[in-house]
Amino acid sequence: GLLDPKIKAKGKKYFGSAADPGTIGVAIDVTILTSDYGAYTPENSMKWDATEPSRGSFTFTNADALVAFAQAHGRLVRGHTLVWHNQLPSWVSTITSAADLTTVIQNHVTTLMARYKGKIYAWDVVNECLNEDGTLRSSVFSRLLGENFIDIAFKAARAADPAAKLYINDFNLDAPGAKTSGMVALVGRLKARGVPIDGIGTQTHIQLGRAGTIAANLQTLANTGLDVAITELDIASSTSSANEAQQSADYATVARACLAVARCVGITTWGVSDKDSWLGAAAAPLLWDTNFVRKPAYTGVDAAF
Ligand code: XIL
Repeated sequence: GLLDPKIKAKGKKYFGSAADPGTIGVAIDVTILTSDYGAYTPENSMKWDATEPSRGSFTFTNADALVAFAQAHGRLVRGHTLVWHNQLPSWVSTITSAADLTTVIQNHVTTLMARYKGKIYAWDVVNECLNEDGTLRSSVFSRLLGENFIDIAFKAARAADPAAKLYINDFNLDAPGAKTSGMVALVGRLKARGVPIDGIGTQTHIQLGRAGTIAANLQTLANTGLDVAITELDIASSTSSANEAQQSADYATVARACLAVARCVGITTWGVSDKDSWLGAAAAPLLWDTNFVRKPAYTGVDAAF
């Protein structure tokens, strides 16, 4: 068995996985999710297209199932994600007035968070809002509301479930550079405006051999005064034995990075087995292979964490 399935039991940090109907409905995945993982993030079921496909009409079947599964096993849930330019239904993208969009954001955030109030450890309130150069990404949200869409979303989130930790989440925050600096600067502006924010999620979709900068970068993010979390870890590789050894070392490096940074609350891998990875089985980015056999990467994490 792994990896300390309960948050901060024995003073440790959680180790979680993405999960959804395609895994919580499959016996071998359930065995692994319940023996080795202490937290779950719905891979798709809480996204806007899944939960509010038309305006004011909400569907929660799969999200409810994930939350019920977590509750039945005493596990944490990371809610993912409330305001994101992807997997966004077209009715949102075609809104043309700032006032209308504000109402729509507030209603979406409030409805999802109220439904699961008290059952979600942390929410990714805003996802992937930065460009690689650290500037604000163009989306219907930024075009109509500028950076203020982030304020609107976080304020609605805090009001809806005051106990939930509120995160801004993004990718390519694994090494120093314009995007990391842009995130630090953005969080500084949000805090200066009194926006209620608790954490920075770093997705950590990385390539083989790129784990060495992560500990220092987590500390850079934590120096904003917020919690940090590794929210969608996978390490794209292949199945050659040399790559599997490097991947194991990389996973151990990432696990030790979170342990070394006091404000790092935990790690979530973006799935269980390579069979179901969003990157495709050939990328072999996860801890179990396509036959649900533990890989060297599992051993690397288990030894380090
Ligand atoms: C991915 C899912 O894994 C896929 O199943 C889906 O088709 C597309 O989205 N960043 C995120 C996640 O924040 O929500 C994405 O998940 C992966 C990239």
